[in-house]
Amino acid sequence: MSQDLRDIVRAEFEQAFGTTPAGVWSSPGRANLIGEHTDYNDGFVLPFAIDRRTFAAVGLRDDARIRVGSTFSDEIAEIALDELSPDVVSGWAGYPLGVVWALGQLGHADLAAVPGLDIMLESDVPVGAGLSSSAAIEGAVAFAIDELWRLGLDRVQLARVGRTAENEFVGAPTGIMDQMASLLGRDDSAVFIDCRTQEATAVDLGLAEHDLTILVIDTQVEHAHASGGYRERRASCEAGAAALGVPALRDVTVDDLPRAKELLDDVTFRRVRHIVTENQRVLDTVETLRTQGPRAIGELLDASHRSMRDDFEISVPELDLAVETAQAAGAIGARMTGGGFGGSAIALVPRELVSRLQVAVDGAFAEHGYGQPVTFTVTPSEGARREV
Ligand code: GLA
Repeated sequence: MSQDLRDIVRAEFEQAFGTTPAGVWSSPGRANLIGEHTDYNDGFVLPFAIDRRTFAAVGLRDDARIRVGSTFSDEIAEIALDELSPDVVSGWAGYPLGVVWALGQLGHADLAAVPGLDIMLESDVPVGAGLSSSAAIEGAVAFAIDELWRLGLDRVQLARVGRTAENEFVGAPTGIMDQMASLLGRDDSAVFIDCRTQEATAVDLGLAEHDLTILVIDTQVEHAHASGGYRERRASCEAGAAALGVPALRDVTVDDLPRAKELLDDVTFRRVRHIVTENQRVLDTVETLRTQGPRAIGELLDASHRSMRDDFEISVPELDLAVETAQAAGAIGARMTGGGFGGSAIALVPRELVSRLQVAVDGAFAEHGYGQPVTFTVTPSEGARREV
C-alpha cells in the first residue's frame, strides 16, 4: 500500500504542478498505548507510530510562493511566503502551511530569503479517528522542508515546529505527544516521552514475539464538543495545579492526592486524580514492559480507561462499549486512545483472537443500534523518513 501511495503522490504532484518533485517524504499517524492528557501537564506518555502514513511530494520553486494540494480536497491552496499568517488560512491547508509559518516563527528559517515550495499530500491515516492524521501531515512536511531548505533541525525540534503549527496557526491547544510520536517512532517499539524535558526513549513492545497485536476500534463517532471538551479539561488541570501551588500536575504524586482532595472541588479533584494516576500508570507500564513483557500490562490499560471514563470524563458510550466488548472477548487490555469524546479504542490482543474480537465488537454495536465501527490491526512503525 505504501509503495502505491508513493507513486500516487508523485503522479498527483506532476499532474497538479507540471514539474517533478525533489522527493517524497512520509510520517506516520500514532496510537497512544497509555498516558492520556498527561502531555500538556508536563507528564509522561507512551505512544507508538502506526503503519499508516502521510506522504508528501515536495519541490522547490524559484519564486517565494507556496502551493499545497492533497487528496483531502480538490482545491490547491496558494499563498506568498510573506503573507502567511494564522488568520488567512482555514481547513486542512492550515497544517502544511502552519508548519512553514512555524519554521519562521521559531527562528529556524528566514521566510523572506527561502525559496517557495510545491507540496502534494496523500495519506492512509484515517481522518477523525483520533490517530493524529494532522501530526502525520506536519511531520512529513516538516521533515521534507528541513532537508530541502537545509535547516539541519533534529526530530525533537521538528516535533516542536509541528506543535507550534497546531497550537498557534490551526488554533488547537494540544500537547506535543502526537508530533513526537510521528517523528520519533521506531519499529516494534513505543516511544516513552517525558513531556517536561522532551526526552524520548524507545521501549521495546515485543508484540510479534509474544503473538500479540493491537486492534484499533474506530467508533466513527466524533462529538461536536470534542475541541471544547479538550480545552475545558486543559483549563481544569491548570486550575488544579495553580490551587495546589505547583507549576504543573506532573509535580503532584499519588501520595499528594489526599491533600488535593481536601483543597479542590470534586470535579477538579477528579481531573487531577486522572492525571496523577495516569502518569504513574505510564511509568508502571514502561517498567512492566521491560521486566515482564507485554502480556503483563493489561490491567494498566484497563485502569487507564476507567480513569478516563469516571474521573476525566472524556469517554463516550461507544468507546466504553468497544472497550468492554474487547475485554470480554479475550483482549489482554483495552482503552480509548487520543483526545477522547469519540475516535478510537485500542485493544491488546492475542493474534488468534483478532477475528473473534472484530465479530464481537460489530455484534455489540449493532445490538446497541450504533453505526458499524471500523476495526483494523496496527503495527508499531518507524517515524518520519525520506521515501524516494
Ligand atoms: C490529542 C492531543 C495530544 C494529547 C491527546 C490526549 O491527541 O493532540 O497532545 O493531549 O489528545 O492524550
